Amino acid sequence: MRNITIESNNGSFNYSLISSIEGVIGKIEGILNSHSCFYIVDSNVHKIYHNQFKHLFNQKNCFVLNATEEYKSFDSIYRIYDFLLENNADRSSYIIVIGGGITGDTGSFAASSFMRGTRLIHVPTTLLAMVDSSIGGKTGVNYKKYKNFIGSFYEPEQVITSSKFLSTLKQEDVLSGMGEVLKYALIDSNFFDYCFSWLDGSLDLPEDDLLYLIGKSAQIKNDVVTQDKKDLKMRHSLNLGHTFGHAIESVSGFSVKHGIGVIAGMRGATYLANKMGIMEDKVMEKVLDLLGRYKVDEKINTYSTDSIYLAMQGDKRE
Ligand SMILES: NC(=O)c1ccc[n+]([C@@H]2O[C@H](COP(=O)([O-])OP(=O)(O)OC[C@H]3O[C@@H](n4cnc5c(N)ncnc54)[C@H](O)[C@@H]3O)[C@@H](O)[C@H]2O)c1
Repeated sequence: MRNITIESNNGSFNYSLISSIEGVIGKIEGILNSHSCFYIVDSNVHKIYHNQFKHLFNQKNCFVLNATEEYKSFDSIYRIYDFLLENNADRSSYIIVIGGGITGDTGSFAASSFMRGTRLIHVPTTLLAMVDSSIGGKTGVNYKKYKNFIGSFYEPEQVITSSKFLSTLKQEDVLSGMGEVLKYALIDSNFFDYCFSWLDGSLDLPEDDLLYLIGKSAQIKNDVVTQDKKDLKMRHSLNLGHTFGHAIESVSGFSVKHGIGVIAGMRGATYLANKMGIMEDKVMEKVLDLLGRYKVDEKINTYSTDSIYLAMQGDKRE
């Protein structure tokens, strides 16, 4: 097991990267002994892992959420509030969110606002959620055509996960998570050198490499967030490529996954930086070499520049 200490607004908490799913369950059972727990679970995770978790889940404590952007909405939030109310949750209850970034963002927004905030634990089950969305306390839902527009900053008390969850993840979701890992490589020069030397574009990584990438990425994100908890300055570096990326996601009608849009977006941002004269040719070539090892959906190249430019203007990020 690897433990990372995460700094949050309420002190520090543990990010536990555990070697087995049984180990994750064991840690949850430890909390269950003394508190009432409510689970908000990604529908695919519920389907795949139901047998392992079935002694924890029952109809009164388990809310299953469809993990698509359409369900990252106020409608889901109201349904979660109803579920919590009907089952007598209160501020001392734990909400344990098990799933990817969609379930994490939606479930933790519900946890942050129900009775002004319940206790929260994240169990990220996608690579993207392990390296990015479970750290930094951003919660939220989409509103009208705006992505992640309504939300809050709310930290979990713990993050508990295992790379073993990734064995059932679709390849495009692994690629999407790699998009955020590559972003950290562009933020941290030592990590860039490691990725440049060792990553060849394969999505089938040995366990040790995977553990290193997850642990290092989580650490880099935490280091950045600690310096700028409210996303006022330093944290903007975590948006690298995201204005392009969100525009690509939006033009695709969200059929392009977030992190895959980010890979294409970082390519766009790299070309732009070079054109603006703020990135040397040789740096651009190296960055494009690393990003180019990860093949994104060809259809992205068919989107018109005008439609992407228009969508970029609607991005809420600075
Ligand atoms: N809060 C933040 O700081 C932050 C940061 C980055 C991204 N995000 C948000 O995260 C979301 C994307 O997250 P994501 O990439 O995890 O997508 P996701 O939550 O949609 O999960 C991807 C797919 O994998 C499935 N899945 C999850 N775990 C699985 C497993 N172990 N095995 C098999 N299938 C599994 C899900 O059902 C879904 O179909 C976006 O909405 C994005 O805006 C938030």
